[in-house]
Amino acid sequence: MHFLLKRAEKIGKIVNGSKEIHIVTHIDADGITAGTIAYQTLKRLGKECSIEFIKDLDSDILERLKNDNHELVWFTDLGSSISTDTPEISKIITDHHACQENSNKSFHLNPHLFGLDGSFEISGAGVTYLVSRAIDRKNMDLTPLAIVGACGDLQDRRFRKLTGMNREILSDGESINAVKAKMDIRYFGRESRPIFKMLQFANDPIIPGLSGREQACVGFLQELGITMKDGDNWRKWIDLCKDERRLIISSIAQLLLTKGFGHKITKRIIGEVYILVNEQEGTEIHDSKEFATLLNSTARYGKCEVGLNVCLGDRDKWLAKARNLLLGHRQNLVVGLQFAKEEGIIKRKHLQFFHAGNGIRDTIVGIIANMLLNSEDVNSDLPLIGFANKGQGEVKVSARGTEELVEKGLNLSQAMKKAASALDSIGGGHDIAAGATIPKGKEEEFLELLEKEIKTQLSSRADVL
Ligand code: C5P
Ligand code: C5P
Ligand code: ZN
Repeated sequence: MHFLLKRAEKIGKIVNGSKEIHIVTHIDADGITAGTIAYQTLKRLGKECSIEFIKDLDSDILERLKNDNHELVWFTDLGSSISTDTPEISKIITDHHACQENSNKSFHLNPHLFGLDGSFEISGAGVTYLVSRAIDRKNMDLTPLAIVGACGDLQDRRFRKLTGMNREILSDGESINAVKAKMDIRYFGRESRPIFKMLQFANDPIIPGLSGREQACVGFLQELGITMKDGDNWRKWIDLCKDERRLIISSIAQLLLTKGFGHKITKRIIGEVYILVNEQEGTEIHDSKEFATLLNSTARYGKCEVGLNVCLGDRDKWLAKARNLLLGHRQNLVVGLQFAKEEGIIKRKHLQFFHAGNGIRDTIVGIIANMLLNSEDVNSDLPLIGFANKGQGEVKVSARGTEELVEKGLNLSQAMKKAASALDSIGGGHDIAAGATIPKGKEEEFLELLEKEIKTQLSSRADVL
């Protein structure tokens, strides 16, 4: 048995031996699904339990948790940074963020402690699921949540499908007919967006001449003879027949190839998508990526109870609330992207950045940085850093890289952690995506520190190659 699974069993025993457990989780899709898996597991065991959602685990929160005196605190999708200290808090941690070797403690389940990469082999929801399954195999019905969590963290991105431990979770889901993997177009919105909108927002890969241009997308579909409406309803990707889908895919491939994008990028149009079999087709919760975006529209806006209730199975009032929040989230992304572009992306030698001030919420600046870095407007040769005011004299920093830069030695988790700690602040995450919170006014100093780190990372690897 994999050592990771042995650790999951040990942690399961700690859960079984406790009566009262408080869950602390992250405000994104992976955090909500991880928290829900833990919550369901505890409820099914008849434990007394509570849950809270936080942006980052900082010293104030740890101080409060110490004073709260819970019998056990279960950190999900966060917590790897604290496992070496704070013995005052009796805890278990199921996380997938980069962590130190010396945090290899019996109460901490993290892929990085077992030679696996937490940026794509398993997510916070995935490691939490392993503990849940170790407690009771009946919890295998929670696999859809683990798959949504992994897709929310873009873990299917590197290989255009889920790999590593995520694969094992997927086969659990398939064995009980709760999840189904199939090859299809990878663009977001297969089930819930009008086709021209799906193309307009295409960013992995971008479609030259179409991404970001609504009218061009409409024209492209008209030229191919695709009917865009069925009566009063916009047709979605899933409403098209096989021949129509094939025609669109081959035309996009043609566009990419003639613009010199090459086969490696062109191949990215197609990949695995994950269907939640028990949900209604054509809704935002039938496709795992769309489900993840729906969840991001809740807790990132302080509405964690909405995401939690949808994950717990509500398909009525809470789902309606989530759908409403999704409209706002989509609008915020469009406005935020525009704002960052207008504010201007400033290029330095080893990184590029924008400062959104109060123009973009601190909780979505990372999503926007990611979208920008994958858009036609921004050069993807340099990592992109986004700043947004967080309130109380603090600034949120989100950093995003590309697979190519990571292959060259970029490790944003380390760089952000180092630069932040030089300012007595906290930072971390994954090699390809990381975050930090720093004091307002220290942005320039932070950029200098970060740039130095990135330069060292990229040049030390260049020497080896
Ligand atoms: O907090 P957490 O681990 O849940 O978030 C992971 C972050 O890493 C997400 O913002 C996701 O978009 C980003 N990511 C990425 N590219 C990948 C994998 C993850 O941008 N290949
Ligand atoms: O917040 P943002 O989306 O930019 O975060 C990118 C990644 O860095 C996420 O995985 C997040 O959990 C992680 N992060 C972290 N420590 C911080 C801030 C973010 O590990 N202080
Ligand atoms: Zn996560």
